[in-house]
Amino acid sequence: MRTHLCGEVNEQLADQSVQLCGWVHRRRDLGGLIFIGLRDHAGVVQVVVEPDSAAFSGAEALRNEYCVRVSGQVRMRPESQWNESMATGKIEVVAENVELLNASAPMPLLMTDEDGEEVRLKYRYLDLRRPRMQRNLRTRARMYRAIRKSLDAKGFTEFDTPILTKATPEGARDYLVPSRIYAGQYFALPQSPQLFKQLLMMSGMDRYYQIARCFRDEDLRADRQPEFTQLDIEMAFVEERDVLDLAESMIREVFKDTLNADLPDPFPRVTWKDAMDRYGSDKPDLRIPMHLVSVDEHVAHIEFRVFSGPANEDGSRVAALRVPGGAELSRKQLDVYSEYAGRYGARGLAWIKVNDAAAGLEGLQSPVAKFLDEKAWQGLAAATEVETGDLLFFGAGEWLTVSTFMGQLLVKVGRDRGLAREGWQPLWVNEFPMFEWDEESGRHMAMHHPFTAPAQGDPEALLSNPGDALSKGYDLVLNGAEIGGGSVRIHNPEMQQAVFRLLGIGEEEAQQKFGFLLEALKYGCPPHGGIAFGLDRIAALMSGEESIRDVIAFPKTTTAQCLLTSAPSPVPEEQVAELHIRNISKED
Ligand code: AMO
Ligand code: AMP
Repeated sequence: MRTHLCGEVNEQLADQSVQLCGWVHRRRDLGGLIFIGLRDHAGVVQVVVEPDSAAFSGAEALRNEYCVRVSGQVRMRPESQWNESMATGKIEVVAENVELLNASAPMPLLMTDEDGEEVRLKYRYLDLRRPRMQRNLRTRARMYRAIRKSLDAKGFTEFDTPILTKATPEGARDYLVPSRIYAGQYFALPQSPQLFKQLLMMSGMDRYYQIARCFRDEDLRADRQPEFTQLDIEMAFVEERDVLDLAESMIREVFKDTLNADLPDPFPRVTWKDAMDRYGSDKPDLRIPMHLVSVDEHVAHIEFRVFSGPANEDGSRVAALRVPGGAELSRKQLDVYSEYAGRYGARGLAWIKVNDAAAGLEGLQSPVAKFLDEKAWQGLAAATEVETGDLLFFGAGEWLTVSTFMGQLLVKVGRDRGLAREGWQPLWVNEFPMFEWDEESGRHMAMHHPFTAPAQGDPEALLSNPGDALSKGYDLVLNGAEIGGGSVRIHNPEMQQAVFRLLGIGEEEAQQKFGFLLEALKYGCPPHGGIAFGLDRIAALMSGEESIRDVIAFPKTTTAQCLLTSAPSPVPEEQVAELHIRNISKED
């Protein structure tokens, strides 16, 4: 039907005849001439219909988004009308024939960034016609190609794993599928292919990958969908550094191939503890050139209990954040930051404005300066490298709480003040704690998942002091987003049993849920480890999108619905009954 794509018509085709198909992007009538912006996935080209042309009356009837085929001749535009920002900006196509392939009803959306999320998702097939969405999905496809190319070259093999399966614990609720054949029994959709990829290592498949759909019924946000895509990887006979090196080299190749972007080599690595100490986050955004400083030693001796208390206590800290040029912040702005820190657990947020760094205590303006002596201030000033015109924020209290609210504050202040630099800043975070204590249920939870190996290999040692145990887990962070996570796995049944026990999973429950894994671990399981990357998140970063919904063709809303198809939706009673279940109304 066509000889060229709209976006590909350029000056090299001058004076040639072309046939193009696409949609009317815009139509303008200018003193007898009709200009049509004709759009396909490759771009937009200007079509001119002259008043004496046979195509004129047909062109007059065209409206936005009509689907048409145009035959005509490529002509150079006068130089004064060149549009250098468009690939097709030096030419136009003089129409000889305009054939209407299909008219369009009036558009339910504007097809611009002004459109609201609801209308965009309901008419997703129209929203996807927009150049921005075309670009995003095609970037994603290029990323998939680059991944396969990289991993195939590194000796990996792509294997599928089941979608109808048994629950995999990744910390979210399962999506369940009732069985028609076995009354009262359910499949779970996989939260990840975790256990199957481990089993493939036991099968001697050696190096596995899969671009795998995962399902998690959890609270959604901009960076979470109930159905999302992982690049899932597993390797046999490896230690932690082998997985990190491999994954890092793959990610570098994928960014180079997809975006022609050069990522640092090597990626920096930081332990979880150091990340929390220095950035107050397990996913620091290294584009923001600020960090927290522990100042306990400088305030341990002062009268002010809010500082000296935590400075002298184990498990507590006093952390300072230097804001370059921050002395200009108003009282009102400081109150806003204080309120912001409060949302993350701060009970107060002390600050010091440094009006004159050479004047010692005299040069400060602060509600807490009166509690400081010269020695304390000199210590603080040296530790934070503060200069005239800067501001220091202070958080004091329990280590994790202070780290967390100061970390959130760092990001907020950094963004508000436009401090973030351009570019790609990857970071490995490792040596995570094995467990975190869950106040609500009063028990340990796996920080990663229950199949992650502890750093220390002895089950007895782990059982005797689980709170301090570190794991062989790691995350890859890019520009402040967690894009991947993995671990070296437990490959011996005693250790796996010990971890289940610490997680409060009794022997019977372990057998019932993971009996197949415990059994498989008995037959010469190789040491193995792996990682999974969130491809939606990587695609969003690559496309400069805030939300992963903008890089998924047909995403769900933040309330887990598909507005296009109206799913989930009721099904006929008989179909429900066949599954041996019964709907109960909300009131029951
Ligand atoms: P984890 O649960 O950390 O690890 O998931 C790996 C990566 O998947 C992405 N991700 C998500 N993306 C979009 N929506 C979601 N709801 C969502 N949840 C997670 C994140 C995350 O870093 N089986 C382990 C991996 C392993 O140990 O090898 C796992 O699934 O980018
Ligand atoms: P107060 O003596 O409680 O009025 O606190 C004096 C100053 O210390 C105020 O500026 C508070 O915001 C600040 N402050 C109080 N608690 C903390 C805390 N836990 N961390 C940091 N600053 C605090």
